Amino acid sequence: MTALLTAEGVTVNFGGLVAVNAVTLSVPAGAIHGVIGPNGAGKTTFFNAIAGLVAVAPGRIAFDGTDITGLPPYQRARLGIRRTFQAVQLIPQFTVLENVLVGLHHDIKENYLTSLFGWSGRSAAEEEAQERTLEVLRFLGLTDALFKRPRELSFAEQRFVEIARALVARPKLLLLDEPAAGLSPQEVAAINALLRRLRTEWGTTIVLVEHVLSLVLDVSDRVSVLDNGKLIAEGAPREVEADPRVRAVYIGEDHA
Ligand SMILES: Nc1ncnc2c1ncn2[C@@H]1O[C@H](COP(=O)(O)OP(=O)(O)OP(=O)(O)O)[C@@H](O)[C@H]1O
Ligand SMILES: [Mg+2]
Repeated sequence: MTALLTAEGVTVNFGGLVAVNAVTLSVPAGAIHGVIGPNGAGKTTFFNAIAGLVAVAPGRIAFDGTDITGLPPYQRARLGIRRTFQAVQLIPQFTVLENVLVGLHHDIKENYLTSLFGWSGRSAAEEEAQERTLEVLRFLGLTDALFKRPRELSFAEQRFVEIARALVARPKLLLLDEPAAGLSPQEVAAINALLRRLRTEWGTTIVLVEHVLSLVLDVSDRVSVLDNGKLIAEGAPREVEADPRVRAVYIGEDHA
């Protein structure tokens, strides 16, 4: 299978602290790839490296046949990489519709974004943006919340809106940073179902950073395990779960 995302020896150094240390992984198109590891293992930093928010040195990241190692974040976004953040980052004054629309700002002319919220002018681009936004909100079952502000939503709904914002541009690669954190078992099941539908119905390739191991081990095709910046195991969920190195890292930790 062709890899959509390839990281080769990716290293991120924060003034002497090696947060990500020579991590290599390959994610085929259409896969769900889990990334687990204890707090501070380097999972979020690895996402930031893929998204272009931190410099990689040394190492190389290729996406969809292009070396993206030196590209700025917006160019990576245009190529089809989107991510969510560990802490939900919705704009409090914006409605759900507006918050999701923000996810199209890489694709829409700047003057549109500034005048966007009156839906004035009704250019073809605006119509399309609105249609895409409604489509993703329908997909996520959020149409009842269209005109609500984030504070009127449950925590789980806020997470779904954040995912909607990442999805509205129909990314090829979706990076999810702990989407299940703080959710109830029923809500985690909804995330599980969503990831599966995204893969089958939209063909989205997903990299999932998550502490809720039951979710990662259930939904992922393969799982990479980071500890102290290093990749200590990689394989099918069952292999990783049984790996003594992985068990050693998780001993004494209560991860769902
Ligand atoms: N901007 C930064 N400057 C300096 N050090 C950082 C920075 N970001 C992260 N670190 C450090 O890099 C290491 C990896 O952090 P990171 O946030 O990637 O871990 P994580 O695996 O996502 O952890 P968690 O599960 O708690 O979210 C930690 O030691 C952290 O303190
Ligand atoms: Mg993190």
